[in-house]
Amino acid sequence: MKTKILEITDPQKDMSAIRYAAEVIKNGGLVAFPTETVYGLGCNALDIHAASKIYEAKGRPSDNPLIVHLSDPSRVEEYVYLEDPLAKVYMDHFWPGPLTLVMKKKPIIPDSVTAGLSTVGIRCPSHAVARLLIQKAGVPIAAPSANLSGRPSTTEASHVIDDLNGKVDVILCGGNSVYGLESTVLDITRKPAVILRPGFITLEDLSFINPDTIQASDTSMKDGIPKAPGMKYRHYAPRAKMLLLRGDPVKVSEYVDGIYEKKEGEKACVLTVEEWTHYFKGKRVFDLGPMTDASRIAGNLFSVLRKIDKTDINVIYATYLEGKGLYTSIMNRMKKAAGENVMNL
Ligand code: TXA
Ligand code: MG
Repeated sequence: MKTKILEITDPQKDMSAIRYAAEVIKNGGLVAFPTETVYGLGCNALDIHAASKIYEAKGRPSDNPLIVHLSDPSRVEEYVYLEDPLAKVYMDHFWPGPLTLVMKKKPIIPDSVTAGLSTVGIRCPSHAVARLLIQKAGVPIAAPSANLSGRPSTTEASHVIDDLNGKVDVILCGGNSVYGLESTVLDITRKPAVILRPGFITLEDLSFINPDTIQASDTSMKDGIPKAPGMKYRHYAPRAKMLLLRGDPVKVSEYVDGIYEKKEGEKACVLTVEEWTHYFKGKRVFDLGPMTDASRIAGNLFSVLRKIDKTDINVIYATYLEGKGLYTSIMNRMKKAAGENVMNL
């Protein structure tokens, strides 16, 4: 398939590209587009056949449901039942923005989009290009992150081109994602409401609206709460093997000294924060930004993992970051990228 790659510098001026992409969506095609979280790969959410093309292009397991994106929150009741009295409160507070609400779906949303679930995740993005695309298409857009399944999500147009050129109809290039982490997924069909995937909107933010909100455990289902179906798969994974080292930086640097490139064929690097780079002198170091700036770290994570992938590095020694709020979301992604390979030092 020949992919049309269209640059959007100013959404108003480049409206013809957005209109073209909207026509492609209406006709059952696939369009990758920027959002404020990560790039999405979209199709018409009301077309029973379109979703299967997304699963095929991404190589995504078919039991992993897609998020449905709306531009106009006032139309949400066309697609879901608002059973939770707080549903509207969440929407007023956090939409448009990086929160996906899992609610009971109406029959108009095809089973192919929700992987057969009776619920659907709905999100109203704030990015101008995403909003205009949905408006011009005149239908809600079902979109997972625009990466090959299992790979780090895409936060720059070049990442999308690397993964999906030749597999989708259109790629709308609209700069870098401002957040760089996927939306928070909150299941409000459960009591108490459960965060299935943490993101920029944190447990602390959501507890402000509903103090009973809980975070689904990262690694197991033993609390009886199934995670977002997608979270059971290996995710965000760089090609290199990643090991997360948890402990104070002196101990971590001593440990790394002992094993760094000692195995035959190992090409290693250290992934850490700015303040700790000096502990790893003489090694290849990638830094995610200042330790105190969680937003910067979140925004850099996927692009740094992809940058490492472009080198010959095959082992990443990453330092664990402690903290609440957004740090929890960052560590959720880093643990998954490391295949839960965490060593306490
Ligand atoms: O920020 C985002 O959410 C991006 C942009 C493009 O909007 N999208 C995204 O989609 O990250 P995806 O498909 O990569 O991740 C969606 C996650 C998966 O873990 C999926 O299992 C979960 O949301 N999910 C979707 N619908 C669900 C449902 N009905 N019940 C439980 N989990 C659901
Ligand atoms: Mg994804």
